[in-house]
Amino acid sequence: MDTRMHKWRIGATCEASVAASRFSTTGYGRFYRWLLLCVILLSFTGCSVSNRANWQQPERVVESLSVTEGAVIADIGSGDGYFTFRFADATGPAGKVYAVDISATVLAKVAERAESESYSQVATVQAGPSDPMLPRPVDIVFVCNTYHHLTDRTDYFRNVKNYLSPGGRVAIIDFDDLPWWGNLMMRSHQTAAATIREEMEQAGYYLVEEHDFLPYQNFLIFAVADSDRLANK
Ligand SMILES: C[S@@+](CC[C@H](N)C(=O)[O-])C[C@H]1O[C@@H](n2cnc3c(N)ncnc32)[C@H](O)[C@@H]1O
Repeated sequence: MDTRMHKWRIGATCEASVAASRFSTTGYGRFYRWLLLCVILLSFTGCSVSNRANWQQPERVVESLSVTEGAVIADIGSGDGYFTFRFADATGPAGKVYAVDISATVLAKVAERAESESYSQVATVQAGPSDPMLPRPVDIVFVCNTYHHLTDRTDYFRNVKNYLSPGGRVAIIDFDDLPWWGNLMMRSHQTAAATIREEMEQAGYYLVEEHDFLPYQNFLIFAVADSDRLANK
């Protein structure tokens, strides 16, 4: 963390703690004291949470997927490209990274950045709600903080198999292990690892790897089950 920010936070916390100690310890005074202490605690934890890289560990996520130069990746629910451009750095210009989203607005932002920073390997794909509409098969389908947005997920990923190259993988990251204050805000924006696994198995995949280094999210990697691959031949 930036040292100036750290000093500022320590200073602010001391000031607020002194203010909290001035409230009376009975009646409303006690209530406000608790309230202020909660705010101090939240602002302290919130500061490190608001820096996404602290908990998202994007470099480690990309590294865990062993992306090779020239690989073809679909970032489904790419948003503004938080992972798209990191994947593009890993594939190099010989690869291809499709930023796939249902929102034309976020795709326009990705396209603008790709253009201005000369990422020729990044292309945007306007997805349908139940189909990523990829133009060609990919080596990795990556789905971060988007799984919970998808409806009929088993059908969705059954269809995604049509877009996977032989040996292709599907990597899913979703919120799961949030602290209580995160649960208050993000209750409908998470999926338990067991649910993802069950739905993916129903869709014809098996779990290849499960990483546990993300503090608030699960991170599961799937491949197409052999029985399914043979059935699709
Ligand atoms: C919370 S954002 C995650 C963005 C990015 N993956 C990240 O981690 O920063 C979820 C994104 O999923 C997109 N989305 C929702 N439903 C989708 C669907 N059916 N197909 C593709 N994208 C979808 C939304 O438009 C939004 O940009």
